Amino acid sequence: MKFEPGFHLLLGKNAQGKTNILESIYLLATLRSFRGVGAAQMIRQGQKGFFVGAEIIGSQSDTIKYYWSMRERKLTLNQDPVKRLSDFFGTLRAVVFCTEDLQLVKGAPRIRRRFMDLLLAQTQPTYLQYLQQYAKVLCSRNALLKQYRPDLNVLDSFSRELVKYGQALIDARRQLIPKLSPLARLAYRRISADAEELMMVYKPTVQTDFAEELKKNMDRDRQYRSTLIGPHRDDLSLKLNDNLASQFGSEGQKRTLALALKMAQAEYLTGIVGYPPVLLIDDVMGELDRERRSGLLPLLERAHHAKGQVFMTCTEENWPRELGRRLTRWQVSQGQVQWHESQS
Ligand SMILES: Nc1ncnc2c1ncn2[C@@H]1O[C@H](COP(=O)(O)OP(=O)(O)OP(=O)(O)O)[C@@H](O)[C@H]1O
Ligand SMILES: [Mg+2]
Repeated sequence: MKFEPGFHLLLGKNAQGKTNILESIYLLATLRSFRGVGAAQMIRQGQKGFFVGAEIIGSQSDTIKYYWSMRERKLTLNQDPVKRLSDFFGTLRAVVFCTEDLQLVKGAPRIRRRFMDLLLAQTQPTYLQYLQQYAKVLCSRNALLKQYRPDLNVLDSFSRELVKYGQALIDARRQLIPKLSPLARLAYRRISADAEELMMVYKPTVQTDFAEELKKNMDRDRQYRSTLIGPHRDDLSLKLNDNLASQFGSEGQKRTLALALKMAQAEYLTGIVGYPPVLLIDDVMGELDRERRSGLLPLLERAHHAKGQVFMTCTEENWPRELGRRLTRWQVSQGQVQWHESQS
């Protein structure tokens, strides 16, 4: 399929394959599903693997090909195998809006960490490297702590490695949140009719010096046989008028907040990269009331003016007609996609 710049509306009844298309675009950008499923679940039932490929045309043109099966993984960028993921990330940038976003507010800290991590990986090539190295050494350190009598010299060298990568992650997150917070606050105000003040604060488990605090915590780590502080335990606190949104927010407020976070992500990427990311909007438009929908429209307008791309899934009944005539409509039916003749 060939998608021009602009708005693309993927129309169809339920279970026809609309989300599937968004998932494949997101997969090319992040190598993950946004539905929170593993790669194995993305393989068509009865098949051995999946393949997704695209030519991404922006200021330059890049070809991505990705094949995944239990036995073999093959990712190429312009025909060359990708050796380091940090060389790959940034080829295509996408932000997805979906019903699962609510978990950013309601869910475990892990989900908010992933939100920060994805944004940093999309903007700083080294971040992903540090993240992977940190995860690896954390795993080794925890395994060692589980031993009856861990070798303290080895533990010490793991700790030093952990601090090296961990501190870089903490620093990057600490710098990110104050930049993201005003964008999220603005987005929240745009969508919400009420005047709650959104506060977004990074909550690291390490207060000042990772090395020192890790040392201080050593006895506890050994007692619990696990590393208890570090960026793998961080959180992002989301407050509305000084109250934690997860505990005090209404359902509508939580939904608005989740949407605002994603809008902030898109605005932040646009600011850093200079052009908007591809926006993937799954079922969200139909769920929003008119007011919140109109809060989202400026973001879409800006994407449109910058010749960006927006993909939106809708059923025939709930597509946002206020977007007017500048839409390309595609009909999705039983896994087949067709350009919709009757452009309105
Ligand atoms: N691994 C898989 N193998 C085969 N079929 C699958 C697999 N995973 C999901 N499906 C099916 O693919 C179909 C299309 O799913 P998809 O989520 O893209 O639909 P949709 O058009 O977005 O529907 P809705 O409007 O309900 O969100 C569904 O029937 C779903 O059950
Ligand atoms: Mg769907």
